[in-house]
Amino acid sequence: MSAELATVRSAILDADGLVRALATGRRKGRPVPVVDGREVRRVEVRVVDLKAGRHLQVTSYDATQAHTTNHLVGEAAAAAVDALLAQPFANWHVDTATETHQLRVTKKGAPLLHTSTRAEEVAPERGHDRPKDRLLPEDHPVLRALGISDAQGRVKPTRQAKYRQVEELVRLLDASLTEAMAQGRVRTPTADDPLRVVDLGCGNAYLTFAAHAYLSDRLPVRVTGVDVKQQSADHNARVAADLGIDADFVVGSIADARLEQAPDVVLALHACDTATDDALGRALEWEAPLVLAAPCCHHDIAAQLRTTEVPEPYAMLTRHGILRERFADTLTDALRAALLRREGYRVDVVEFVESAHTPRNTLLRAVRTGADGSEAAREYDDLLAAWGVRPRLGELLDHA
Ligand SMILES: C[S@@+](CC[C@H](N)C(=O)[O-])C[C@H]1O[C@@H](n2cnc3c(N)ncnc32)[C@H](O)[C@@H]1O
Repeated sequence: MSAELATVRSAILDADGLVRALATGRRKGRPVPVVDGREVRRVEVRVVDLKAGRHLQVTSYDATQAHTTNHLVGEAAAAAVDALLAQPFANWHVDTATETHQLRVTKKGAPLLHTSTRAEEVAPERGHDRPKDRLLPEDHPVLRALGISDAQGRVKPTRQAKYRQVEELVRLLDASLTEAMAQGRVRTPTADDPLRVVDLGCGNAYLTFAAHAYLSDRLPVRVTGVDVKQQSADHNARVAADLGIDADFVVGSIADARLEQAPDVVLALHACDTATDDALGRALEWEAPLVLAAPCCHHDIAAQLRTTEVPEPYAMLTRHGILRERFADTLTDALRAALLRREGYRVDVVEFVESAHTPRNTLLRAVRTGADGSEAAREYDDLLAAWGVRPRLGELLDHA
């Protein structure tokens, strides 16, 4: 083991000092890291005090789910950490009470370690039922200002679904951003040039404000919401004033909204029907490094499937209304993902809240890598030729 990896190892195994360790990305030319038999994108390690004693808690994230295991501090924890360190992660970020270690493995496999001392010591959080399971605790001022929580700081029964939705999206945003920044795909923001996040079709800006609340504790960030409704902008400006934060709200259509500078992160949560395509089109136009879009209803392709000649032998897929709607959802998002890949993005399609809570739970996560998109272009063309549909995003990109 290299000296750099050994430093990371002892920082993680110092159970009294560890705040959090994060492994992300995979080394160039190496397989995807595997934990407990599952290919994972990210692993988080922290210390938890359980009845059975102090444990290292390892939470690994694959494309759709988190999986947690606990390892008694001592031999079991050391074995778990050694197994993680043996995996070809590209980055390790370890926060201890007094230091931050950042290890990056270069394309040639050389470990580069940067260690900095914290200005102020932080106290690790070791509770098992940690409030940190919630990124935004129920009594967070932002949740009160948005009317999700009541004056006593409890989420209102009628707002539970919104709370869960926003939490899960912010969780995915945090994970995606951490990974993309560690890989150098998203720049490191500064106080003079904060991370620019735009939320397209923001409505009452639950996600915009929640993202600001969570991210602004970690890095300099400036959020902008775009919506056609003047009423939304007025409401959101009042919430921003209540919270005492700077945020911009632009009234206008997603397709035409003017921003002073291109954003680093584009969000779109349940922008209606083809408004998601408009959002993705803008993200591509801005060459946004990170895009998270959770589509809403998919009427456009569903309507086209009603009249198009369905290729043999797939007529059964569109004959019944309910199946046609579901298939249209799948086809629409598959075509969107193919177009994003074609344009040089790495794309994951994941579920961001359990389907028991809402059927509108698909999220397209796209990171701009500049990868060659010719294979995706071929797949897209083939799919289009077979089904005879004209997806809005394709029209925007190819026939504007
Ligand atoms: C279902 S709401 C979702 C609001 C918010 N993103 C959320 O998840 O709470 C969709 C929002 O998108 C806005 N919208 C739909 N099409 C739009 C367009 N083409 N341009 C701008 N805003 C649009 C609507 O006004 C509405 O506020």
